[in-house]
Amino acid sequence: MKITIFGSGYVGLVTGACFAEVGNDVLCVDIDHQKIQRLEQGEIPIYEPGLEALVVENTSKGRLKFTTDIKKGVDFGLYQFIAVGTPPDEDGSADLRHVLSVAESIGTYMEEYRIIINKSTVPVGTADLVKEKVTSVLKERNVIMDFDVVSNPEFLKEGDAVNDFMKPERIVIGVDNPRTKELLRFLYSPFNRSHERFIAMDIRSAELTKYAANSMLATKISFMNEIANIAERVGADIESVRKGIGSDSRIGFSFIYPGVGYGGSCFPKDVQALERTSRKFGYDARILQAVEAVNNDQKGTIVKKIIDHFNGDIKGKVFAVWGLAFKPNTDDMREAPSRTVIEALWKEGATVKAYDPVAMEEAARIYGERDDLKYAANPEEAIIGADALVVLTEWLVFRSPDFEMIKRELRQPVVFDGRNIYSPEYMEQAGFVYYSVGRRPRGLN
Ligand code: UDX
Repeated sequence: MKITIFGSGYVGLVTGACFAEVGNDVLCVDIDHQKIQRLEQGEIPIYEPGLEALVVENTSKGRLKFTTDIKKGVDFGLYQFIAVGTPPDEDGSADLRHVLSVAESIGTYMEEYRIIINKSTVPVGTADLVKEKVTSVLKERNVIMDFDVVSNPEFLKEGDAVNDFMKPERIVIGVDNPRTKELLRFLYSPFNRSHERFIAMDIRSAELTKYAANSMLATKISFMNEIANIAERVGADIESVRKGIGSDSRIGFSFIYPGVGYGGSCFPKDVQALERTSRKFGYDARILQAVEAVNNDQKGTIVKKIIDHFNGDIKGKVFAVWGLAFKPNTDDMREAPSRTVIEALWKEGATVKAYDPVAMEEAARIYGERDDLKYAANPEEAIIGADALVVLTEWLVFRSPDFEMIKRELRQPVVFDGRNIYSPEYMEQAGFVYYSVGRRPRGLN
């Protein structure tokens, strides 16, 4: 099969590499010359386990190619994936500029039947806009040509994206033409093994499925964070409550971990965008509004605990921050809780000594050189001379550290754990003052 993928970002690159891996000929198109040059040399612009090996191998086998030539891209594949960014615009709606510009190019250069597949996360109704755009460009060209538009949302988790693509839980296809549906089923057949994962539906339902899935997951997290806040006030332990409710198979254990709030490129953006879409269609989506509001507040709860512990004054204090990425196994800091926390600490006049296994370069790119932000070469170095330790991402390397060393080197043995990765009993016995989420503080006199 010949496949063109517009947009060599996170989604486009994973999609391209995985389709090439199962034997297709894939051409990835991006307008960023530098990015394409680097990709041709096997340099991956993002941190994603397993992706680099896949790109290098398939490039060397000639199945995966890169170009900035849009016309070449339109000429190449029967399947034309749109995987460009849809950043939020000022009011939180998804900005469709890039998606529609690809649609325009396809309309401009296509010479025969094409299947245009929206993989970018786009609001309900976008497939219709893409269809309108291509139709109007074809009309300007005075040509009549058949094409189909399909919605095929991605459900990739950062840090596990290759695995999610190769072994998907579901392949959602929104399509209104039975023949195209079968072509898509065929294209995805290498990934549709052991039991049926191909779920075909109408286009609008597929578009809404993506937003509904992410909003549901975000709701689970905000709900648990809310229960954690209640637990703290009524003297309960959220970790016991989590196990207690998770054992109900209707609720389930996954995605009910309380913490410092969700971040990343999807949940915050998608909850907001669905709320805006609902509003546009005359519906006041109160649950979505609450999910977002609870999450925004949650990012600040650990800061409040820090400031209260130091009696309202953290000016001049130094905080060791473990974890900058919005979750482990990624260097992504988009909407990361660490940013809210660090910026709040700075506002109060404190200094941060940060360590993250992969996201420090990204932090340096975001914040540049600053006197109140230092980076440590390892977790231990961040601790030396700090007033307290703040844990914001649950990387494995943070789970069983040398607490004796930490106690010795911290000016005060205080740990603020935003991910509940330590046992309160252990921390108390080890002589720490220990704050976590949804559990009473330990070690206070
Ligand atoms: C998410 C979806 O999982 C994926 O299907 C979709 O395609 C893109 O958005 P991702 O953004 O990579 O993927 O991150 P995910 O692993 O889902 O975590 C999102 C955020 O929720 C993280 O900040 C994480 O720390 C937080 N989280 C997750 C919790 O706070 N508690 C949990 O129980 C689970």
